[in-house]
Amino acid sequence: MATELTRIEKLSALEILDSRGRPTIKCFCTLEGGISASASVPSGASTGGSEAMELRDGNPNRFRGLGCLNAVSNLQQVLAPALEGESFSSQAALDHRLQELDGTSDKSNLGANTLLAVSLAFARATACSRKISLHQYFSEILGVKPRMPRLTVNLFSGGKHAGEQVSIQDVLIVPNAESIKDSLASVYEVYQSAADGMLERFGMRALTADEGGLAPSFENSIQVLEEACSAIERAGLKPGQEMHLAVDVASSHFYKESKYELDGESLTGQEMIQTLNEWASRFPLVSIEDGLHEEAWEFWPELTQALDNLCLTLGDDFLCTNPGRIRRAVKSSACNALLLKLNQVGTLSEGAEACRLAREAGWKVVVSARSGETEDDWLADLAFGWAADYIKVGSITQSERLAKYNRLLEIESSYD
Ligand code: PGA
Ligand code: ZN
Repeated sequence: MATELTRIEKLSALEILDSRGRPTIKCFCTLEGGISASASVPSGASTGGSEAMELRDGNPNRFRGLGCLNAVSNLQQVLAPALEGESFSSQAALDHRLQELDGTSDKSNLGANTLLAVSLAFARATACSRKISLHQYFSEILGVKPRMPRLTVNLFSGGKHAGEQVSIQDVLIVPNAESIKDSLASVYEVYQSAADGMLERFGMRALTADEGGLAPSFENSIQVLEEACSAIERAGLKPGQEMHLAVDVASSHFYKESKYELDGESLTGQEMIQTLNEWASRFPLVSIEDGLHEEAWEFWPELTQALDNLCLTLGDDFLCTNPGRIRRAVKSSACNALLLKLNQVGTLSEGAEACRLAREAGWKVVVSARSGETEDDWLADLAFGWAADYIKVGSITQSERLAKYNRLLEIESSYD
């Protein structure tokens, strides 16, 4: 990191709309010398209980309570006066100040969305003023050598991202290719063959879910996994060799009265672990995300053991990118991979701490988008700059997803 001071000259904000047409916040940051940059923040629908708080207006007469005018006003009336004219020696110094100004552990005072917008706009403006790429700036924060992640691409959706026609939230395809360019080409083949297969099977074009995944009326989760394997084969690829799968079970969202209500069955924690072990034995999965309820701490170590040698046990709602929860999970060997979403924690530096803790424990890291995204592409720079093992962006349709894939292509080509 440069030791020189970076002085913020001006901060402003705008309420914009995300890929679900819901409001979110975009921050504009101008540094001394006139360099200016902006960044916008995403928003989840299938959220974990321990996520930092996203500030919404709550006015039912405007965007059904989802407006972000209070977040804009916090940025312009509270953060701007406090930060304009101030100089920071690093991203950590700015993020620390943001945390201080908010003063709560869950960012419920000013809003995690407000803080993250400033944190990222400052990062981008600083990278510009230092004439380095955003991914180089990110990589310096963490002190790692950049590396391209493997893609995990949403093929089929259920749960809260679709009409809950099947319990599990996402089945993703994971290409095993040399480059992002080749990965996307094979993903396209599989996506098209899956869409054709759905037309044959259900007699109509499948509707798409929040992240662009196909969302037909599958009968159960096994059928979704089977159909993903068939689509890979029909595309002329070998499941388990040229293309793997991943699943986001998002099981907290179908956990009712201590039971997992999976596809019409009512399963105990033990039975759920058994089921997930069967899936991992039968299908070429690289990871199972949120296989258990986010507060079922006592079962997670057993799940991790049951999946050992089969696939990664990945925590999203379970960890919420929260350093405290990650420390606890490391201590109890509760999982072995972190799904990293910056807006779950609220600032870039806290996300870096989460990543550092996961790496120290020997875990894999998946940098992830949210189901409500904007056309901003900082996520691609983050995944590359932080040398994530995987990136999870959604499907290969919808421009808010393509912005990230296209940025990865651009980064890749700059290293040719
Ligand atoms: P979300 O879903 O962005 O709606 O929380 C993504 C995920 O669960 O991974
Ligand atoms: Zn998830």
